[in-house]
Amino acid sequence: MDLDKLAKPFLKNLNPYKPGKPIEQVQREKGITTPLSKLASNENPYPPHEKIRSAMTEAIKEINRYPESGAPDLTDRVAVVLNVGTDEVFVGNGTNEIIDLLIRAFVKSDENCVFSAFSFVVYKIICKQCDVEGVEVADRDYRHDLDAMAKAVNDKTKIVFVCNPNNPTGTYNTAGEIDEFLSRIPEDVLVVFDQAYYEYVSASDYPDVYTLRRKRPSIISLRTFSKIYSLAGLRIGYAIADSKVVEILNKMRQPFNVNRMAQAAAQAALECRGEFGAYLEENKRECDRLRKEMLDLGFECPPSQTNFLFVRPAGAPDNICERLEDLGVIVRPCVQFGGPENSFRVNMGTPEENNRFLAGMKTILGSS
Ligand SMILES: Cc1ncc(COP(=O)(O)O)c(C=O)c1O
Repeated sequence: MDLDKLAKPFLKNLNPYKPGKPIEQVQREKGITTPLSKLASNENPYPPHEKIRSAMTEAIKEINRYPESGAPDLTDRVAVVLNVGTDEVFVGNGTNEIIDLLIRAFVKSDENCVFSAFSFVVYKIICKQCDVEGVEVADRDYRHDLDAMAKAVNDKTKIVFVCNPNNPTGTYNTAGEIDEFLSRIPEDVLVVFDQAYYEYVSASDYPDVYTLRRKRPSIISLRTFSKIYSLAGLRIGYAIADSKVVEILNKMRQPFNVNRMAQAAAQAALECRGEFGAYLEENKRECDRLRKEMLDLGFECPPSQTNFLFVRPAGAPDNICERLEDLGVIVRPCVQFGGPENSFRVNMGTPEENNRFLAGMKTILGSS
C-alpha cells in the first residue's frame, strides 16, 4: 500500500527546504580533499566567541537535565538588553521555529500571508505545510515592492512578512518606506519584520522597528543568534512582540523547544555583544571588495546590508554554481528562492575563502 496516500493531500506538491550543501557532501561528491569555501548558508565563518564556548562547556555538565521551559533567564536578559518587557520576549528554536509557530497559531485555513516572492523561502514553505495561502508579491529592483505588497493585503490577510534586510538580495527598505507602508496596512494584520541580519546593518535610514512597535502592537520583530553570534548550529532566535502574541506562541511551542546549551550560549552571546566590531568591519570590507569585483565583471550585484551578496552573472556559463563547486566553492543558487536563472547568493567567508571564490569566478570566466 502507498503509505504516502495516508498523508494530507496538499503535502504531495510540497518541496522540502533545500539547505546550502554541506562541505562534507561536496567533498564526497567531487572527491575534493583540499579546503572548501562554504559560502552558501549566510553563516559566520568564525567559531563562536570564547566566552560563548566556555558557557557551552559549562552547560554540557548538566545536559542530563531537561532545559528550563520558556528560557526564563535568557528571556529576562534579552528584555533588559533591549529595554522591552519580559512578557514581550519569546525565545525559539531558531527564528525558523517562530515563523512556523506564528503561521500555525494565527493563520486560519481560509486566510493568507503576504510576502515578497524573492525573499526568505521559509515563509512560502510553512504556508504550504499549513495549507494556507501564501501571496507572493514580485520584488522591484531586488527590493521588496512595498506598494505592491500593501495592495496585495486583503481582508483575508493575517500576516505580512517584511524581510529587512532581505535574504537573498541583501537589500533593505528605508524607514520612510516602511512608515508609508504601515500607514496602508490594517491594524489587525500582524506585520512581522524578519531582522535576521539586523546586526550587520549600517544604513542610517534603516527603520527602528522597536519604536514602531510602541505605536502598533501588531508589529513583531524576529532576530537570531545564528548569524553574528556564530550559533547557527545550536538553533536559537527570538521574537519581540506584544505580550498577547507571546502568550499565544507559548501555548503553541513544544515544552522544551530551546535546548540547554543554546540558552546558555545565547546568554553569553549577549554579554559579549559589544565585542564584534572587528568582525563587522571585516565583513563590510569584504562585502565591498567582492561587490566591486562582481560589478567590474559586469554582473548585477545590489549593495548589501548583510553578510552576503546577491549576484546575477549575466553572460557567465549557465552552470556557474556547479562549476564553482568543482573548484571547491559552495554558493547558493537563487532559482530555489524564486530568483533569476543562474543567479546566486554568496556569503562572506574569511578573506582566504573569499579569495578562493574570486579566483574560482575568474577561472570559470577565463579571465585568469
Ligand atoms: C531572513 C532569515 N530569517 C530567518 C532565518 C532563520 O534563522 P534561524 O537560524 O534563527 O532559524 C534566516 C536564516 O538564514 C534568514 O535568512
